[in-house]
Amino acid sequence: MKLLVTGGAGFIGSSYVRNRLESRPTDRVVVLDKLTYAGNPANLEGLPEDRLEFVEGDICDREAVAGLVADCDAVVNFAAESHVDRSIAEPDAFIQTDVFGTFVLLEAARDAGVRHLQISTDEVYGSIAEGSFTESSPLDPSSPYSASKAGGDLLVSAFRHTWGVDSLIVRASNNYGPRQHPEKLIPLVILNALHEDAIPLYGDGRQVRNWLFVEDFCRAIDLVLEDGEAGKVYNVGGPDELPNIDVVSRILELTGRDDSLIRRVEDRLGHDPRYSLASERVEALGWKAQVGFAEGIERTVEWYRQNPGWWGPLRSGEYREYYERQYGRKLG
Ligand code: NAD
Ligand code: DAU
Repeated sequence: MKLLVTGGAGFIGSSYVRNRLESRPTDRVVVLDKLTYAGNPANLEGLPEDRLEFVEGDICDREAVAGLVADCDAVVNFAAESHVDRSIAEPDAFIQTDVFGTFVLLEAARDAGVRHLQISTDEVYGSIAEGSFTESSPLDPSSPYSASKAGGDLLVSAFRHTWGVDSLIVRASNNYGPRQHPEKLIPLVILNALHEDAIPLYGDGRQVRNWLFVEDFCRAIDLVLEDGEAGKVYNVGGPDELPNIDVVSRILELTGRDDSLIRRVEDRLGHDPRYSLASERVEALGWKAQVGFAEGIERTVEWYRQNPGWWGPLRSGEYREYYERQYGRKLG
């Protein structure tokens, strides 16, 4: 099989490409990635060059996308602007990539007659006080990020309904693991703890996230790509729900630091208090999370400890400027 993986130089996309090439020794993968601040060619280092082709480009580029999609058996779309805080500060690129880019890929999948798997998020359902969202829960996104992801999801459904495109959606909870950009909570806390820098905790720190180790998510994606029913949505939730303060405290323990590094800062605007997914549908395909938070967070902290060559370059340049804009005033 030859797969087109868009956004394959990002955190989850590159983990998926790695797992796919390792588990299917005859498969080939073409990665299309714009290499925004979040895309990193180093994420794909060490993978078999004879079975992996990298194309630098934009999913909004109709001509480039049509050519690449027509030459593949299926498309898995990870390409997105993915950080909620950046969507609050500057939403434009989110609407462009997450909505228009998805539309461009769907047109190409329709014209070429190939399967399109959309990688989406639990955030499209909004927040839930008790219980868990199922695939039939209504969409109620809160941030410009989640609204643009919901827009992409609705286009997937529309292309299925109108043209019968062979499309499906997976909606995942919060992923963590190696190679996640340090703008996100877990890598930010690990790296700040290792450097003994202050750790910004939004609001009361009681917000709950449903943590999913990235390798578990990648296995779910393969199952859905191969055995999923066209037109269906598949939720993929992690095995553990934890308030942010507990996540931060555990990382501080693992890095040998204490709570004195924590700074309670002004809350994120419109901050969703809790996400939770019911994953029975993907479990019926044979999926089960294998890595609980206790193991996954130890492996993740260890990976960041062992790989300063990966994160060193990321902590300067664009990230420093972003960090200053996002936290400079809050941290004082
Ligand atoms: P990421 O920000 O690490 O990576 C996104 C990748 O997309 C980068 O390589 C970037 O260069 C690329 N990209 C951005 N705009 C592009 C464009 N116009 N054309 C081509 N490439 C472009 O994101 P991630 O955390 O790996 O998330 C991947 C996908 O999974 C996203 O669709 C996200 O919405 C979804 N998701 C993420 C999580 C999570 O916890 N990280 C959870 C659920 C769903
Ligand atoms: O739920 C799935 C989503 O998870 C994905 O769709 C998104 O792409 C991904 O970024 C993630 O969104 P979150 O907003 O949940 O992740 P983030 O790591 O930004 O924040 C996790 C929690 O930690 C959230 O409640 C906000 C809080 N937080 C975050 C940062 C960056 C802090 O308290 N301080 C921080 O500095």
